[in-house]
Amino acid sequence: SGYWVIVPAAGVGRRMGAGRPKQYLPLLGRPLLSVTLRNILTWPGLAGVVVAISADDADFPHLPESRDARVHPVHGGAERADSVLQALNFLAEKVSADTQVLVHDAARPCVAIEDIESLLAAEAACALLARPASDTVKLAQKSGDTPARVEKTLERARIWLAQTPQRAPLAQLHSALREALERGDPVTDEASALEFAGQCPALVAGRGDNLKVTHPEDIPLAEALLRLRFA
Ligand code: CTP
Ligand code: MG
Repeated sequence: SGYWVIVPAAGVGRRMGAGRPKQYLPLLGRPLLSVTLRNILTWPGLAGVVVAISADDADFPHLPESRDARVHPVHGGAERADSVLQALNFLAEKVSADTQVLVHDAARPCVAIEDIESLLAAEAACALLARPASDTVKLAQKSGDTPARVEKTLERARIWLAQTPQRAPLAQLHSALREALERGDPVTDEASALEFAGQCPALVAGRGDNLKVTHPEDIPLAEALLRLRFA
């Protein structure tokens, strides 16, 4: 029993532009992926972690967390959704169909335990951490002009920005993601795959500091947050 966490960590970090995948850049002197895994390994109720890594990843075996018996590496795929699907294929052979699965980006090292507790406590079958938008959101025209032109302004009170973890029962997420990928639906997170399968995942308000390390300026920001969190 207990829930499983899938950590997609097979990206190349193009926007970071560091010359190597961002999950191995140092955060307060430790590899980013190590920080994320160490955080997850302290969550109460955790049964195990499946980490999707790139097939040519030579760094993972050097992380101390890779020697934890609860941590299982699998090879990821071309897109984030392919990496998550590989991890789900592994889990489907290992645990029961109704096992709760949380998917959490390697690139979000600062997620707080209170957020995990709210996500696990949500009554809905499927749920995700998200933040109500504070900026006004503009939908750009499709033309591709530079500068982009506004087509319309979305209703801010209804806009939420999706974070991770995102939670669903194993079999439900597995079939939703597999079918969405087969159809070629644009799946950018687990919730979108579940939406294509007709589900309405619950939006659980998370903290504002669960940032996704994406651009170079996010590194010092994440370090400052970690100092506050784990000091
Ligand atoms: N990811 C993955 N497999 C992929 C692509 C992404 O497992 N084929 C993971 C990344 O390692 C990251 C998470 O999904 O932990 C979120 O993706 P993102 O922040 O976009 O990371 P990258 O794809 O590496 O970055 P970029 O898009 O800038 O190249
Ligand atoms: Mg990406």
